[in-house]
Amino acid sequence: PIVGVIVVAAGSGTRLGADRPKAFVDCAGRTVLERSLDSVFGMQREAQVVVVAPADLVAEAEDIARRAAGAAESSISVVAGGDTRQQSVSNGLAALDAGIRIVLVHDAARALTPAAIFDDVVTGVAQTASGIVPGVPVQDTVKRVDDDDAVVETIDRAELRSIQTPQGFPRASLAAAYADAEIEYTDDAALFAAAGHPVSVIDGDALSFKITTPWDLRRAEGLLASAPA
Ligand code: CTP
Ligand code: MG
Repeated sequence: PIVGVIVVAAGSGTRLGADRPKAFVDCAGRTVLERSLDSVFGMQREAQVVVVAPADLVAEAEDIARRAAGAAESSISVVAGGDTRQQSVSNGLAALDAGIRIVLVHDAARALTPAAIFDDVVTGVAQTASGIVPGVPVQDTVKRVDDDDAVVETIDRAELRSIQTPQGFPRASLAAAYADAEIEYTDDAALFAAAGHPVSVIDGDALSFKITTPWDLRRAEGLLASAPA
């Protein structure tokens, strides 16, 4: 394959507050990680899949990965993550095969992301050689406030997008940007853009929301109950 997908699952899930790291928490009968990998293996294109897991859960992640891969032709491996998401992505990048040309980075916590989004992001990168990120319009009015919470201005939300994953990049330029990064960025696209590369937004999907809090987990389970996936 020429496509690599790095699924970062090495966070601790502090805000979810479960008794285990978030990717290994049950979501309506299957783990968050297994649900995410189901979407990855639903891609049209063959891919090399690298799961980044907490160091003490690599073996468990390998079991989940094998189950999710089933008879899929895509290959899958698991590596240990780091203290920050950026370090975890960096560990995943190091595990990619030499032939990989396009890399997608995906949060395992976005467990219900439609498979088609992965293919859309790959297509975007292949056509533009830019970074490609899925995004959705911002629904609420957004205001800038000062230190005392007084409203300074209302931002024109028509020019805002909430950004999701998977985020896709040409492999060589993402790896170089990672090697040169000296600060922590909020997402891979910010790191990539800081290295001087263009990034474009394509249509994301409401189902790609990130499971962050207990409320998000209940929302995911509710959606699965009403439309089993
Ligand atoms: N992640 C990771 N390695 C880290 C931190 C985060 O691989 N050191 C991954 C998480 O597993 C998650 C994704 O990055 O799939 C997005 O991060 P977030 O939602 O913040 O997850 P956590 O860091 O686990 O949650 P929290 O911030 O609430 O502790
Ligand atoms: Mg976090």
